[in-house]
Amino acid sequence: MSDQAQNLRLKVESLRARKETKAIGVISGKGGVGKSNFSLNFAISLAQKGKSVLLFDMDIGMGNIDILMGNTSAKNIVSFFEEGLSIVDVISKGPSGISYIAGGTGLSRIFQLDTDKVSRFFSEFEGIVETYQYIIFDMGAGISEDTVPFILSADEVFVITTPEPTSVTDAYAAIKYLTLQKQDLPFYLICNKAVSDKEGMNTVKRLQQVIQQFLQKDIGILGVLPEDRAVTRAVMEQAPFILTRPHAKISAALGAVLDKYLKRIDDKQDLIPMKAGFMGRLKQIVFKR
Ligand SMILES: Nc1ncnc2c1ncn2[C@@H]1O[C@H](COP(=O)(O)OP(=O)(O)OP(=O)(O)O)[C@@H](O)[C@H]1O
Ligand SMILES: [Mg+2]
Repeated sequence: MSDQAQNLRLKVESLRARKETKAIGVISGKGGVGKSNFSLNFAISLAQKGKSVLLFDMDIGMGNIDILMGNTSAKNIVSFFEEGLSIVDVISKGPSGISYIAGGTGLSRIFQLDTDKVSRFFSEFEGIVETYQYIIFDMGAGISEDTVPFILSADEVFVITTPEPTSVTDAYAAIKYLTLQKQDLPFYLICNKAVSDKEGMNTVKRLQQVIQQFLQKDIGILGVLPEDRAVTRAVMEQAPFILTRPHAKISAALGAVLDKYLKRIDDKQDLIPMKAGFMGRLKQIVFKR
């Protein structure tokens, strides 16, 4: 291939990637509802469909995504800030070809530290965003100052709740807080640890109605994931259930959630062909503070 043709091909590929990079924030009100297990297995499922995926453990200082896949990484986002590693140095390879950035231990509130370090992060992060079709942010429980810009800039925000009333009210509080900052943030509800499909659907439908009534906001429902011992076993074995138990109830339900998500965004892309990108929104939020 001539140099000119090669350059043109690279340009077309990078334009295509830019258009397709989607940022998904996975959040909850209450802790321990299954965000990390969902994020990891969802990321792997996307990769199995041929998508390039970066999973970013934003539970900074308390990260466990690497433990869930049995790779305790020496490199993580804390080493980016503390040891001056580059962003490429802290990206690891996970199962099914996913890339991931581990959350590390010991340090929190990194984005409130030294502004030079934070600027270096955003400039290096911008350089790699377009390499991926999907970036999934697994957030810590609740909303923190560190994570809020990433959530507000995301293309989609998945809110995970369980059927427990405490989990549902905390999810509502998180959605309300974020909606007051950005009314058109696209939320999608997922009920995890449901004893039955009916119980799970009732939970998310009720929450959807309350949000419509009190926040005048329409939000989507992505589906219900069952309470399944396959998840606890996978955690103990440090091996993602989608790989070791592809036929478990939880794996089938996750597959249905993924199909629904992909169908929705494909539909949406037809309606909204041009939209300001994730990185543009993120920089606007971070640097106007
Ligand atoms: N569908 C499920 N069925 C059974 N157990 C589950 C399910 N999902 C999660 N769990 C259990 O809940 C525990 C917490 O899950 P996970 O670490 O993914 O939650 P989290 O929301 O990321 O927690 P944190 O708020 O601490 O980040 C897991 O160790 C697992 O045992
Ligand atoms: Mg977690």
